[in-house]
Amino acid sequence: MEVRVFKDYEELSKNTADFILKCISNKPDALLCLAAGDTPRGTYEQLVRMKNQTAINNCRFVGLDEWAGMDEKDEGSCKNFIYNELFYPLSIKKENYSFFDARAEDLQAECRKADDYILKNRAIDFSLVGLGLNGHIGFNEPGTPFDSYSHVVELDEVTKTVGQKYFKGEKVLDKGITLGLGHMMESKCLMLIASGLKKAQIIKRVVEGDISEEVPGTLMRIHKNSFIFLDRDAASALQEYNR
Ligand code: F6R
Repeated sequence: MEVRVFKDYEELSKNTADFILKCISNKPDALLCLAAGDTPRGTYEQLVRMKNQTAINNCRFVGLDEWAGMDEKDEGSCKNFIYNELFYPLSIKKENYSFFDARAEDLQAECRKADDYILKNRAIDFSLVGLGLNGHIGFNEPGTPFDSYSHVVELDEVTKTVGQKYFKGEKVLDKGITLGLGHMMESKCLMLIASGLKKAQIIKRVVEGDISEEVPGTLMRIHKNSFIFLDRDAASALQEYNR
């Protein structure tokens, strides 16, 4: 695991976007898994800004997670965010992405579909994930096995409360659907990004605490090709950066 610290959110976003573009320059039809949420917003802005210099629209994409019962029409959903911030501005073709249909009646079938899609593509080439305040990755909440695949989740209380920030009015957020930590472990390159003082304590647990399924983010430490990109605020509780 390699940790890199950048002076602020803008530098973090620029460097993350550059890293993604470098990865795909080696494999133009790479399968990417990109998180929604506030943290990657700046990275996606950078990717859109550089769209004429990149071949990202030849890549394929698999959705990381979604709030159960929501689709792209729901403002605040993961799909709505990724489609609007990335896929529409980059003119990504529909056949190049595969996302959970979190409105489907049979969510277990959606899980099997995602697992099959990834298997057929022989694993994800590059995953970009954020970190929940409870240490979650995707909607892999504390206690999720490191070898899990797609599953339906009863969301943690922290996720239900923090998740309200994505929506205009109050939302009932009880379940989610997510790729598993096994998918992240098998991802050929795994990158986690975090920004801001509010992430400093959970980043400290991820980087310096015990490796445990109670803090899903600690799987970064057992992955063979993983990177954590932070801004100074998110890194501010780490011993190594504050000696
Ligand atoms: C979103 C996702 C979540 C977020 C995490 C951090 O697709 O998978 O795990 O990455 O909750 O969210 P932000 O970036 O909003 O702090």
